[in-house]
Amino acid sequence: MPELQRLHPDHLAALLTFEQENRAYFAASVPDRGDAYFADFAGRLAALLTEQAEGICHFHVLVDTNGEILGRFNLMDAADGSADLGFRVAEKAARRGLATATVLHLCTLAATEYGLTTLRAAAALDNTASRTVLTRAGFVPTGEEVRLSGRPGSGYVRDLSRGPEGWAR
Ligand SMILES: CC(C)(COP(=O)(O)OP(=O)(O)OC[C@H]1O[C@@H](n2cnc3c(N)ncnc32)[C@H](O)[C@@H]1OP(=O)(O)O)[C@@H](O)C(=O)NCCC(=O)NCCS
Repeated sequence: MPELQRLHPDHLAALLTFEQENRAYFAASVPDRGDAYFADFAGRLAALLTEQAEGICHFHVLVDTNGEILGRFNLMDAADGSADLGFRVAEKAARRGLATATVLHLCTLAATEYGLTTLRAAAALDNTASRTVLTRAGFVPTGEEVRLSGRPGSGYVRDLSRGPEGWAR
């Protein structure tokens, strides 16, 4: 079973492999990272870990039993009980329900470990997989129209005091 782990410095090599191997796959759905991102990957990871140590962000990787990273699940800009969710799953692990199951798990962690009460997310209208994951994990559209790199999208929110089907915890 893959394990959700909080990002730490030892993830560097596996994380770089994950981003490189899936670069074209991700770029079909979300903006490409750009060459500079890969050129200073260690510096970028160090900056993320600093933000995490300050409590601004909580980064996670989904690690397979062989140490391979299968996905990233991040909570960013945590403030006033709320944070922004972002996620991506490797092409080789797609369509197995990993994103849905892990977002559900992260919703629990966000409430119990990080003291958050709501999560926000955004998905392009043509990103069916992302919108499906968010809906199945209990996120609801806010009605706010957003632009994601020029593409029309929708804002989503999840009340963490409620289960994915809307029942009160
Ligand atoms: C969005 C993403 C994380 C989904 O990961 P995943 O582990 O494949 O998701 P799940 O297996 O939980 O799938 C959720 C549903 O979406 C469907 N789905 C997955 N990929 C799909 C695709 N490319 N097109 C249409 N539907 C897709 C799945 O089949 C599943 O529905 P089903 O159970 O009815 O078959 C992954 O496609 C990804 O990393 N995309 C690129 C980055 C991105 O878009 N991130 C989200 C924005 S923050």
